[in-house]
Amino acid sequence: MPYRVLLTGGSGALGRSLLRFLSNDVDTFIVKAPTHHELDIVDRKEVNKYMSAFVPDVIIHTAAITSVPKCESNPILAHRVNVMGTQNLVRALNDTSIFDRINLAPKFVYIGTPCIFDGERGNYSEDDLPDPKNFYGYTKMLAEEVVRENIKDFLIARVNFKPMEPWAYPKAFSDRFGTYLFANDVAKILVGLIKEDKLFGIVHITGDRRISMWELARIVSPKIEPMTLQDYKGPPLTRDMTLISKRLPSYRLGMV
Ligand SMILES: NC(=O)c1ccc[n+]([C@@H]2O[C@H](COP(=O)([O-])OP(=O)(O)OC[C@H]3O[C@@H](n4cnc5c(N)ncnc54)[C@H](OP(=O)(O)O)[C@@H]3O)[C@@H](O)[C@H]2O)c1
Repeated sequence: MPYRVLLTGGSGALGRSLLRFLSNDVDTFIVKAPTHHELDIVDRKEVNKYMSAFVPDVIIHTAAITSVPKCESNPILAHRVNVMGTQNLVRALNDTSIFDRINLAPKFVYIGTPCIFDGERGNYSEDDLPDPKNFYGYTKMLAEEVVRENIKDFLIARVNFKPMEPWAYPKAFSDRFGTYLFANDVAKILVGLIKEDKLFGIVHITGDRRISMWELARIVSPKIEPMTLQDYKGPPLTRDMTLISKRLPSYRLGMV
């Protein structure tokens, strides 16, 4: 019988890719991906109502305020969406006990970020301690705690990706680094892990090389200009976001 999946943030960069992979696999998944308008995760009553009506087997939670400047300038909104929104989904799951009827794991998949780390030395593994540089990272760290402390069968997948689309800015940092993947790569790997049904806890899904944001940007926008953190004015940014994994192999950037 197909798994019933509730995907939050289905209109986002990763959500769109996930929705494509999940929807193409009709033998395994029945997907509901309500828009922000259809389900505001900040509204606890609405979340409970939606969950009781759809009764998902798995929640893949990608919805968040992802802009670092927006989180910094509107910390109340960032906390509401990123932390309380996650809490609402987790509580609805525990309140209704709807998941007791199935034997699927993980039942809650949370999308984490390397921005929970300080970004000084890079190469963070699943065992390293968070120390976020900005409010976005702080809310994502708190949301991980909400998931870890309240869900038994969770998967926190920390990832770093961009959509395979022209770069959204006129310049890209040549001194910020990551083990990036494209959104389609991450979606394919994640859907595979959910289907395998045996991975729990925290996992880093990483690309196989450390590159700068500018190098990544040049793949999708070959003429893009570099910039450095010195040229930038704004909230503190995580400089070195490279991740390693003690649990999974690394994956080829652009494998999909
Ligand atoms: N992009 C990256 O490089 C990166 C790296 C590491 C981790 N992540 C994490 O991966 C996840 C997906 O990131 P992304 O870049 O794909 O995000 P994104 O493109 O910014 O999309 C965010 C999604 O969340 C939805 N959303 C925001 N507030 C909501 C609310 N109150 N209720 C319901 N939905 C709401 C948005 O809908 P509307 O647009 O309609 O508001 C949108 O669909 C996030 O959890 C992010 O923290 C991202």
